[in-house]
Amino acid sequence: MLLSTLGVLTLFFVLVLYSVMGITARFLVERRMRENLALADEFALEAAPYLHQTDAEGLYQLCLSRANEEDARFLILSPGGTVWIDTLAGLSGVRLGHAEVMDIAIDNADQSYGLHNVSQVAESPYWVGYYASAITYDTDVLGIAFMAASVQDVFDQLDQLQSALLWSFVLVMLLSCLLTVYLSSLVTRPINALNSVMQQAVRQGFSVRALPKGRDEVAQLGRTFNAMSEKLQNMDKMRNDFISNASHELKTPLSAMKILIESLLSSKKLEENMTRDFLTDIDREIDRLNLIVQDLLTLVRFDGKDMPLHLEQLALGELAYDTVQRLFPIAKKADIRLELELDEICYVEADPSRMAQVIYNLVDNAIKYTPAGGSVHVQVGHGGRGVFLKVEDTGIGIPEAALNHIFDRFYRVDKARSRATGGTGLGLSIVQTIVHAHDGDIEVQSEENMGTTFTVWLPAVEDPLEDLLLEQTNIGDEKEESAHEE
Ligand SMILES: Nc1ncnc2c1ncn2[C@@H]1O[C@H](COP(=O)(O)OP(=O)(O)OP(=O)(O)O)[C@@H](O)[C@H]1O
Ligand SMILES: [Mg+2]
Repeated sequence: MLLSTLGVLTLFFVLVLYSVMGITARFLVERRMRENLALADEFALEAAPYLHQTDAEGLYQLCLSRANEEDARFLILSPGGTVWIDTLAGLSGVRLGHAEVMDIAIDNADQSYGLHNVSQVAESPYWVGYYASAITYDTDVLGIAFMAASVQDVFDQLDQLQSALLWSFVLVMLLSCLLTVYLSSLVTRPINALNSVMQQAVRQGFSVRALPKGRDEVAQLGRTFNAMSEKLQNMDKMRNDFISNASHELKTPLSAMKILIESLLSSKKLEENMTRDFLTDIDREIDRLNLIVQDLLTLVRFDGKDMPLHLEQLALGELAYDTVQRLFPIAKKADIRLELELDEICYVEADPSRMAQVIYNLVDNAIKYTPAGGSVHVQVGHGGRGVFLKVEDTGIGIPEAALNHIFDRFYRVDKARSRATGGTGLGLSIVQTIVHAHDGDIEVQSEENMGTTFTVWLPAVEDPLEDLLLEQTNIGDEKEESAHEE
């Protein structure tokens, strides 16, 4: 940052100095030269009558008074360039060979001027302007008026301007260095602090938190880091909970089987009936184990994103009808009325076997958690948010405090009760995972001892064929009727 600031500033300064100094020097020197040339012209005009009358004394006095007024050296030259009068007397009688004189003496110019460095020392130049003007009287050139005046003061002023600019540049550079160092420390300090917090997190785990101040980008980064740490911490906790819950759930049927087998082994005489009972119990525990392992595998595969969805356009009503049919015997056994209401044919893009799992789990829960004599109502229809599947029961309901947890893995409201019904608490978490994988959403409404309603929302797709739709609406109606009959 520092280097680039200094680089840009230096470049800027060099450009400004070069252009400002060039323009100012040209303007000031040019102006002074023109002023002095006007003086030389005026001097020539005044000298003309004296020269015409060959009044040497008058001419000399004129030269002296002009020299005093203007602080310059005035000379009167012959038309050929020989000095007649010199206010400093040193050049009288000398023929001047200066270019300005030659312009008039040889090239017949009216006036001429030039800038000359008259210093003997190369390091400290001294600038003087030479101005020559023809002295004419009635178109006759009587002589040449010559003036030498210092322009050094203009160059001194330019030098002063240059050094003032240089000093201000040094000052600006110094201030920008300080400002850059200050600003970069403002940026790097919080970054370094955040970096050390991150390194600490790598060493000690994700319980450490950054302390972001303000609203700048680094503070935002700090907040993002905190959110990420919290998520990782939660994931860590969830993983531990999951493993301990899974082991616990697997241990229960295993211990039951072990007890059954041990009692079989310890009995001296094996009666056929007892053995059969024991083996039936063991078989049931094995089924339970199998179910838990299957559920766990489903969840783990979804988590690892390696559960491919075989999406197809399917009529959700038909799928609900087929799935609910499988549950009719269970509902009948539990003395629960199972109703199906298919408002219209609703198409969704979904994996049929996964969606059947969703419907099965929800209706299975509704039957399981509804006392005998109750009813379960399954509805498929179109709504504001797409296609919905609603499973409504008149069961025991879910306490409000538990509503936030029912989708958690292994969560059961009443552990003893749902264990008796064979539940592990994985059903709803599988349902939610599948619904989310379909870009859908699941909602629950419940009142204790009144009933529960689960609503699954899925994005609707256009009906594949209008004709087909009409045809299937009739089939749907028939199915609805037959569902009611059952
Ligand atoms: N329709 C319902 N009415 C009342 N409580 C319900 C209902 N559906 C779910 N619950 C409660 O939510 C808990 C979690 O349900 P979930 O389906 O995940 O597990 P489960 O039914 O106990 O076991 P499984 O893994 O066999 O489905 C249940 O134990 C039950 O307490
Ligand atoms: Mg369940």
